[in-house]
Amino acid sequence: MEALKKSGISTSKIKKIGVFTSGGDAPGMNAAIRAVIRSGIFYGKEMVGIKRGYQGIIESDFLPMNARSVSNIIQRGGTILKSARSNDFRTEIGRQKAFSNLQAAKIDALVAIGGDGTFTGAKIFFEEFEFPIIGIPGTIDNDLIGTDFTLGYDTATNTALRATDAIKDTASSHSRLFFIEVMGRDTGFIALRTAIAGGAEAALVPEELMTMDELMQVLEDGSNNAKTSSIVIVAEGNPNGTAAEIAYKVMQKDSRYQAKVTTLGHVQRGGSPSCFDRMLASKLGVWAVEALLEGKHNAMVGDRGGKLIITPFSEAIEATRKFNDELLRIAQILAI
Ligand code: F6P
Repeated sequence: MEALKKSGISTSKIKKIGVFTSGGDAPGMNAAIRAVIRSGIFYGKEMVGIKRGYQGIIESDFLPMNARSVSNIIQRGGTILKSARSNDFRTEIGRQKAFSNLQAAKIDALVAIGGDGTFTGAKIFFEEFEFPIIGIPGTIDNDLIGTDFTLGYDTATNTALRATDAIKDTASSHSRLFFIEVMGRDTGFIALRTAIAGGAEAALVPEELMTMDELMQVLEDGSNNAKTSSIVIVAEGNPNGTAAEIAYKVMQKDSRYQAKVTTLGHVQRGGSPSCFDRMLASKLGVWAVEALLEGKHNAMVGDRGGKLIITPFSEAIEATRKFNDELLRIAQILAI
């Protein structure tokens, strides 16, 4: 056992660590909770699960956990600790209460699993109370810098892809045009990946405007190229509107189209995490605890090319992951 430990870590002053999930849940969060709890225990620390994110800290919803508390959860979607978007934590009074509760429970440090909203809260909390928090990027949107992938993105896109494959079967049988709406308020990562891997005719994303005329042209080119059915993947935050609105506009412009619409919604947020997400969660969970015990905090852990990288919260929340124009180009080439 001793040989497995990284030198210097076990001497840390941190004795008790809390872990919570916050913001939109993502498949793989349970696997990350498991990894955090088990690595904390491995390093001889007392571990506490906090229910409902920041709200649970404000309400002292603390749950002592051991290695067995996280048995049989690696394969489960959602989060056993539950999640919330806390309005109380946005107030100074709420954060003061949270700090007092953590002190009373003798919790010395926190691991926060979530997205940019979660890390914004963690950064403010550190600035006010110097309370050490390390973040694990967990969001299906994949919109954080500082990691190649965020937890849940792989599973969510695989869910969207399975739905797209199923719709393609019926679209092709009936020679129909389908608009499939996927999640992504501000970013089109889910949409673009689903479009390429699902062989869609077009992807409408928040980052790049495809005008309605351009879309009509893509559809027209397809039918001139002997395509009898078409799939358009629509990110919810794209500038042209919802999938239903876009379908309506297309039918207004050309009455030959009888477009069908499927909105995948929260089905993308649930379900058993993929092997990739379980692996990522396991790595990030161990790295988060080790980073904390090495004195790192106010930052998130990430995996870049299989290696740990640490990005300060201030950078992680300020920059949004750059949209991959190359993937959009590839999607367009392959859609002819
Ligand atoms: O941030 C994750 C996400 O799933 C987005 O893709 C989506 O726009 C949003 O959360 C939905 O949030 P809610 O579940 O609160 O409606």
